[in-house]
Formats: sequence, C-alpha cells, structure tokens
Amino acid sequence: MSYLARSGEPGGLMKVLVTGGAGYVGSHVVWTLQQAGHEVVILDDLSTGHRSTVERLDATLEEVDLRDPDAARRVVVGKGFEAVCHLAAFPLVPECERAPEQAWGINVSGGLNLLDACREAGLRRFVFTSSAAVYGNPGGTGTISERSASNAVSVYGRTKAALEDALRDHIRAYGGRAVILRVFNVGGSNVDAGIGEDHAIETHLIPRLLEVAAHGGGGVEVFGTDYSTEDGSAVRDYVHVMDVARAHLLALERTGIAGDGETDVFNVGTGTPTSVREVVSCVDSTCGTSLDVVERQRRVGDPASLVADPTEARQELGFTATRSALEEIVQSAWAWTQREDRSASSRLRAVDGNGGRTARPSARVAVSASDPGRLRAPRDSGRLRSSGSGRVTAMRRSPRFGEMARRRGFITEDALTTALDLQRKRSAAGESHKLLGIILLEMGAIDSTQLIDTLRQMNTTARR
Ligand SMILES: NC(=O)c1ccc[n+]([C@@H]2O[C@H](COP(=O)([O-])OP(=O)(O)OC[C@H]3O[C@@H](n4cnc5c(N)ncnc54)[C@H](O)[C@@H]3O)[C@@H](O)[C@H]2O)c1
Repeated sequence: MSYLARSGEPGGLMKVLVTGGAGYVGSHVVWTLQQAGHEVVILDDLSTGHRSTVERLDATLEEVDLRDPDAARRVVVGKGFEAVCHLAAFPLVPECERAPEQAWGINVSGGLNLLDACREAGLRRFVFTSSAAVYGNPGGTGTISERSASNAVSVYGRTKAALEDALRDHIRAYGGRAVILRVFNVGGSNVDAGIGEDHAIETHLIPRLLEVAAHGGGGVEVFGTDYSTEDGSAVRDYVHVMDVARAHLLALERTGIAGDGETDVFNVGTGTPTSVREVVSCVDSTCGTSLDVVERQRRVGDPASLVADPTEARQELGFTATRSALEEIVQSAWAWTQREDRSASSRLRAVDGNGGRTARPSARVAVSASDPGRLRAPRDSGRLRSSGSGRVTAMRRSPRFGEMARRRGFITEDALTTALDLQRKRSAAGESHKLLGIILLEMGAIDSTQLIDTLRQMNTTARR
C-alpha cells in the first residue's frame, strides 16, 4: 500500500498522536484537531502539563517520558496512528542555559526516540513545533523569512534547530512528509474550552503582567529600553494560541499532500511588531491598571526585534492569523486569569532569584520580550521541583497584608495608600531583605526590636 493511501486523503480524519498535549500550546492543538473531527491521543509526562487539562479535553493520555525509548515505542508502535504532532519540549530559555543536558535530553534525544518509534510504526506524517529561537539574533528590525540564516544563540534555539535537521534527514531517508512550524511568541487562551496558559512557574511576558494587574498593579522591570526600536523596548511578534493551533491543523493536512520525502518550514506569526511597552500599555487598558515600568539594562542575547515574515505560511499553508490583535490576545489571557475555577497550580507565583529580583504580585515583575522565557526549576525524573538554592521557587498567593490590616481596623485607607506607594518605590529599589526580616521574626530567631534595629542600620549603611 502506498504511503498516501495508508494515510488517507489530505482532508481525511485521522488518529493523531500529540506529544506535549497536556501543556499550554499542545492542549489548544488537541482541542482544534478534535473539533476538526480527528481522534487524538496525548503523549505527555505531565512535567509541566496537567492531568486536569487532559480530562477537560476528554482525550486519552499516555503518560510517558519521551526520554525513555522503550516507553516511546510502546505508545507509538502498532497503535494505528496516522500522524504525529510533536510539541513536548523543555522550552525554557534560561533553564536550558543552566541545565543544557536537560534541554538536549528532552528536546533532542526525546525527539529522536519519537522519530525512531515512528519509523518502526511506519508513521510518516509529522508536524514539529519549532521556535523563532532558531533564528537567534538576526539584527535589525525587519521581518524574518524562513530562508533567513538559522543561527541560534541559545541552548534552547540550538536544540530546536538540531531536531529540525534530524527530522529533515529522517524524512529524506525513510519517506513521508513533515512540516516544521517556527512559532513566535504565543499568548491568549480558549477560556470557553477551559484551557489556557497554566504554568506553576511563569515568566512569559503577558501572563506575568496580568498576574501583577490581577493584584491591582505594581512595578514591572523592563530589560532593555535603549534598543533601536520606536519606543526603545524590544519588539516581538505575538500570535494567539488559537491561531497557532489552527496552523498545526493546516500543517497536519499538508502532510497528506504528495511530496514524499519533503519537509516544509513555515513561520507562525503575524508580521506585526509589538514592543514590550505596548504590551504593558495594552494590559493597563484591558485591566484598568497603571503598571509602573522600571527600566533595566538589556539582557545578554536578547535581540532587539524578532518578527515573522508570514508570507510563505500564507501562500503555501493558507495560514493567516485572524485572532492575533494584541488586544484580543491580552483580553483572552485576562479572561483566563479571571476564570472562576482557577486551579491551585495557576495561583502559584514565580520568584526569580536571579540577582535578587523578585516577581511578586503588587511588587515588581521582571519582564523581557524573549521567546519562551519561562523559568522553572531543574527537572528531576521529569518532575518540577523548587531549587534548594533559592534560585527558583514558587509561592502561593496569600491574602494581601494591607487589605487585611485595613479590614481589621488597624490602619486607615489613607495610611494604606501611602504605605503601598512606599512599598512600590522600595520594591523598585530592591529592598526584598525586609521579607527575610519578617520571616526571621516569625521563626522567633529575632524579636521586633532587633528587626527594626537591623533595618535601620541597613538604611544608614546604604545611605553612606
Ligand atoms: N509558548 C510559546 O510562546 C512557544 C513559542 C514557540 C515555540 N513553542 C513550542 O511549543 C511547544 C509547547 O510549548 P508550551 O509553551 O506549550 O510549553 P508547555 O511546557 O506548556 O508544554 C510542554 C509539554 O510537554 C510535556 N513534556 C515535557 N517534557 C516531556 C517529556 N520528556 N516527555 C513527554 N512529555 C514532556 C510537558 O509536560 C508539557 O505538557 C514546545 O515545543 C515549545 O518549544 C512555544
């Protein structure tokens, strides 16, 4: 039987394996494929994905770590899959730098295990979710076409580029057809379907800003305000997660079109540059807040601009983003943040110990425009854990102190407003040591006189 006959007609319904389907982008891909009538099975180790998401999607879950070749083979071989969408990854730029063996292990070895299992299964329709990070730092502020040099500067980008190459070689050697999607910055949710971005530890720009907004505002650190862009902040291409999911559906259909042995590459973006400051201002107008921008130095390796040239995807794939106006992305992400049944995991906050910068609701949050900038602890047996060194920790949101003190009649509304103002200023000045003081007080390690004395001494020393 020929490859095409086995795979059915281009528009035909299929049994599709979606790796990483319990995660953010993957769950929207699963939903979209299901809506189109495909039967979907999710392969995911739930390291950052959620069982509850799989349940909401009413999909079958194979809970497997792709780094285990035998487990991958067990899930894939002899199960009648006709296509695979591969999204499972370790997509955190800073964490990939800190733990490259994790990045290469999951993004490359895991991917190779999947390809091996697909070869054994005769499964030859493949969609791979790659990233704009493969372009590295292209320089300038123009758009980037698929033909631009792939010159990744991050470990994450290099692992994505490596699997792109491996996939091309695999398809050339064993036949079949693949589509690589280089996805730019994803945002938004499908709140009606009960899915959205739900990372225990989050450093993506939009959800982090919304988390601060949900607490009434605060300071946001913006890294790099002197780029040669219109407002000086870095520029990215934001694309709605539902548009990204539709691009996967179109890519899947394309793998059924003749062209055995070929691999296509398409950007998934809008072509519209959006600066960090524009995102902050859109969050303000959506949420009725007035976030304070705290200007910080550029981060090493962060390009001034990463914006897709969407022409090829429009002409060849038939993909145009239709829901990716910044306002729509932010509103849908905001609706997700505000949903009633918010899971406990999504109420965890990130604390970035990098240089003592903290990301607390109503305090300041560090934001840069870099593609997947989420930060999480190193993985241990595929599980998320907090770093004992305090580099990355998660913190459950608590009732707000000032509000509680006011409700109890200890302070007036005016005193609270003044105190919050002071808190914002001090927080912007990096005075997180006060929290440590309070913790030591709670532990009984010091008393209140010693706390006040130490803080006064610190202020005096700092002023000298
Ligand atoms: N979110 C973005 O802005 C963005 C941009 C460009 C590309 N991408 C790509 O999209 C894909 C999904 O990203 P996301 O933002 O949804 O991340 P995510 O962390 O929400 O999803 C990744 C999923 O993969 C699963 N997974 C991780 N390691 C695994 C392993 N060893 N075995 C099996 N499953 C494993 C996780 O449990 C999770 O469900 C990634 O490939 C990422 O590189 C994302």
